[in-house]
Amino acid sequence: MLLYGISPFVLSVNHVFALIFLACLLTVVKLLIVRRKGVKTMERFPGPPAHWLFGHVKEFRQDGHDLEKIVKWMELYQFAFPLWFGPSLAVLNIHHPSYVKTILTTTEPKDDYAYKFFIPWLGDGLLVSTGQKWFRHRRLLTPGFHYDVLKPYVKLISDSTKVMLDKWEVHSRSEESFELFKHVSLMTLDSIMKCAFSCNSNCQTDSGTNPYIQAVFDLCHLVNLRFRVFPYHSKAIFHLSPHGYRFRKAASIAHNHTAEVIRKRKEVLKMEEEQGIVKNRRYLDFLDILLSARDEHQQGLSDEDIRAEVDTFMFEGHDTTASGISWIFYNLACNPEHQEKCRQEIQQALDGKATLEWEDLNKIPYTTMCIKESLRLHPPVPGISRKLTKPLTFFDGRTVPEGCTIGVSIYGIHMNSTVWENPYKFDPLRFLPENVANRSPHAFVPFSAGPRNCIGQNFAMNEMKVAVALTLKRYYLIKDPDHTPKMIPQVVLRSLNGIHIKIKPVEND
Ligand code: HEM
Ligand SMILES: *[C@@H]1O[C@H](CO)[C@@H](O)[C@H](O)[C@H]1NC(C)=O
Ligand SMILES: *[C@@H]1O[C@H](CO)[C@@H](O)[C@H](O)[C@H]1NC(C)=O
Repeated sequence: MLLYGISPFVLSVNHVFALIFLACLLTVVKLLIVRRKGVKTMERFPGPPAHWLFGHVKEFRQDGHDLEKIVKWMELYQFAFPLWFGPSLAVLNIHHPSYVKTILTTTEPKDDYAYKFFIPWLGDGLLVSTGQKWFRHRRLLTPGFHYDVLKPYVKLISDSTKVMLDKWEVHSRSEESFELFKHVSLMTLDSIMKCAFSCNSNCQTDSGTNPYIQAVFDLCHLVNLRFRVFPYHSKAIFHLSPHGYRFRKAASIAHNHTAEVIRKRKEVLKMEEEQGIVKNRRYLDFLDILLSARDEHQQGLSDEDIRAEVDTFMFEGHDTTASGISWIFYNLACNPEHQEKCRQEIQQALDGKATLEWEDLNKIPYTTMCIKESLRLHPPVPGISRKLTKPLTFFDGRTVPEGCTIGVSIYGIHMNSTVWENPYKFDPLRFLPENVANRSPHAFVPFSAGPRNCIGQNFAMNEMKVAVALTLKRYYLIKDPDHTPKMIPQVVLRSLNGIHIKIKPVEND
């Protein structure tokens, strides 16, 4: 009786253990198969020695020296070298202009690790989507960046910049150094909200930290962490971890922010329709384009698709330019002679006017070269990756098979010492037209290249020009010798210890 009563229980415990054991075994076997495939793929690409379990993850300590390591390996291993993230994921890291051209001229999809981790936040938006969906959305959204659409943005961006510069008044009086990345992030968020979504958010003058900006910062950190911590590649493990919990919380804050923007617009559109007003906004913005987009079957975008694109553009449209502008200010502070040349050029272009206009944007070539040189030294997006759907052969005859993950090190390309003599030196003259003509176009790719390049690059260049021009008109940027920023690639290029400068007012202008 007793025996009968117990034995089924005992059996089931054994069963459970057996099942767990089997599952573990299967996982290990699967990992080993994937690993063998990876080893075989990378056979012809020598690289730095890797730990069997951690791979190279432990080499990247996020201590401000990770990018230096890439450059060191680049010099040792010509054209490309493998990096292992955990026991089974190998990424072929490429840094030669011709290798980069080979991959970026294709429409191969984004790699399914790094980008997959964005999906719970950005949905299947333009940044991560592939195939027909990406193609359809890219075609649909491209008119949103036509120069007629971009023109009125110059005024909106300069308004946002002025709000930031007014806030800087206290720092200019004290002449004490201050951290600028957070100021610039609020400014670029304010700008994208006004330009793309016609939203006046007051986010720059609201007191306290902005929950959306904080959420974006956390999300970037957590996406990056998830990639580095191999067990987090498993959905279940990440979900149950405290980091997974923080991720969901931050994503929910970001989603609420974007959902509110969409909700408000739908309300306005409904009201306009009811009152028979056709258009009382001055221009067609990005959200209009999203909401009114129709394909050949008169099919619009689903609510989910719209939200994914709003999340994508809200993020891509402010965090990248915040990084770009912050590093430009830093570089100009470190190079006062170039800063002064920009200032004179800007004052001449403005010719007494208080603000920059669309027509002035091409009257500041020296400033534009300084912006490009800063994008070279501090690329806001330091690396991207792809996953091959078919084999790819590089110019030297080496081939990688379908399924291979390719990492394009934008930072690495920009530090190639053959192409860029003395690569760490800030030298805007590298971007004189005659010097550009003598270089591979794939030696400078801050906005990537080819069919999946940055759709927002003209918007971004305009925003950077306006921000730099108005800032230099008003302040001298001065280096703070006690605060040297430490670059960390965290989706976007950030600084571990912030970016600090001092400023002084420019008199009598
Ligand atoms: C200095 C500022 C910027 C830099 C350096 C930058 C850089 C890049 C890079 C390198 C890519 C390729 C990403 C990949 O292959 O995974 C990209 C794609 C993209 N960028 Fe930007 N970006 C900037 C500003 C912007 C702005 C202002 C917007 C929107 C208003 C934007 C929207 C996008 C979108 C939607 C994609 C995906 C395009 C596609 O796959 O078809 N970016 N950007
Ligand atoms: C830099 O680029 C040149 C020319 O494009 C190439 O020959 C060289 O191998 C590259 N150097 C590195 C370290 O990738
Ligand atoms: C987001 O909005 C939903 C519904 O409006 C709410 O239940 C949730 O608490 C909000 N989340 C955060 C983090 O604000």
